[in-house]
Amino acid sequence: MPQDKSVILKVEHLSHSYGEVHAVRDISFSVKKGDIFSFLGPNGAGKSTAINVLITLLPLQKGEVVVAGYNLRTEREQVRRSIGIVFQEITLDRDMTVSETLEFHGDIYGLDRNLCRTRTQELLELVKLEDKVSAYIKELSGGMKRRLEIARGLMTRPKLLFLDEPTIGLDPQTRRKTWEYLKSVNAEGTSIFLTTHYMDEADELSDQIAIIDNGKIITSGTPDSLKNSLGEDIIYIETSDNLAAEKILLTIPGVKKVQSSESRIVLLSGTDGTHLLPRIIETLTGHEISVQAVNLKKPNMDDVFIHYTGRELRE
Ligand SMILES: Nc1ncnc2c1ncn2[C@@H]1O[C@H](COP(=O)(O)OP(=O)(O)OP(=O)(O)O)[C@@H](O)[C@H]1O
Ligand SMILES: [Mg+2]
Repeated sequence: MPQDKSVILKVEHLSHSYGEVHAVRDISFSVKKGDIFSFLGPNGAGKSTAINVLITLLPLQKGEVVVAGYNLRTEREQVRRSIGIVFQEITLDRDMTVSETLEFHGDIYGLDRNLCRTRTQELLELVKLEDKVSAYIKELSGGMKRRLEIARGLMTRPKLLFLDEPTIGLDPQTRRKTWEYLKSVNAEGTSIFLTTHYMDEADELSDQIAIIDNGKIITSGTPDSLKNSLGEDIIYIETSDNLAAEKILLTIPGVKKVQSSESRIVLLSGTDGTHLLPRIIETLTGHEISVQAVNLKKPNMDDVFIHYTGRELRE
């Protein structure tokens, strides 16, 4: 594969199976240096499998991958030394202190003692745990542990930090704070690859998002381009007869797509929805279908996900 210096991660035709389970199926994408890139997908989509192959935890079965300039097939040790990892599960040792955790990690990776100490200081400040230096892991809250894991992932100053569901199980405030830490880490030059099943998280953090489902990338792009790809506005309508209404709505100019269920109709408007709405009500009423509720909104990541996967995230 030809090397492109502006790319920190390049993945071509990656597949991974557990026996008969095809967890990752022929995915290709690349991450630009300095970017935050997210894999967004539901439980079982193949996010952890993909990330575990990229961080050398699982063998590379099929495909070509270049991480930070190193070939994942032939230069696994160099790949390992270029990356930082934060796992989906908390992996800290309960009986170590905060500073021991970081210094021990640095030690394993061959950083000298002084460097370990100064980095530990810097990183604990970055994730706002400086007043917990001597606390034991078992005394930390879930959010603090997450932050400590992020700090640990950064001990070796990796070019690329991998995080598998970094805010899983955290309360909304702590999630938001974690996003801020990740942004500041990124602003200091670390490229970030993360997986999440939180729409808002992918939207808020990412320069680029790839939506993954059933082991495949369904669509990708910047958060804005994904949201814009749906059309301008989304209109939710409840009527006395959603099925009949669906057919009628499709004949109205400016209506891009209609999807109806028993409970409601989801309509994508190709133009400004506020102007389309009166027309919709008028037309349906003209066909003796009563409109019981309407709701108009700009597309968000949830809408993008539902649009491309054809289903709600947690059915
Ligand atoms: N060690 C394993 N052995 C067999 N099958 C596995 C193994 N790990 C994962 N799978 C299967 O591979 C598929 C993808 O799982 P994976 O853990 O990669 O999904 P995920 O997107 O990370 O999901 P989650 O959001 O729940 O973490 C699933 O069908 C899962 O059951
Ligand atoms: Mg996972």
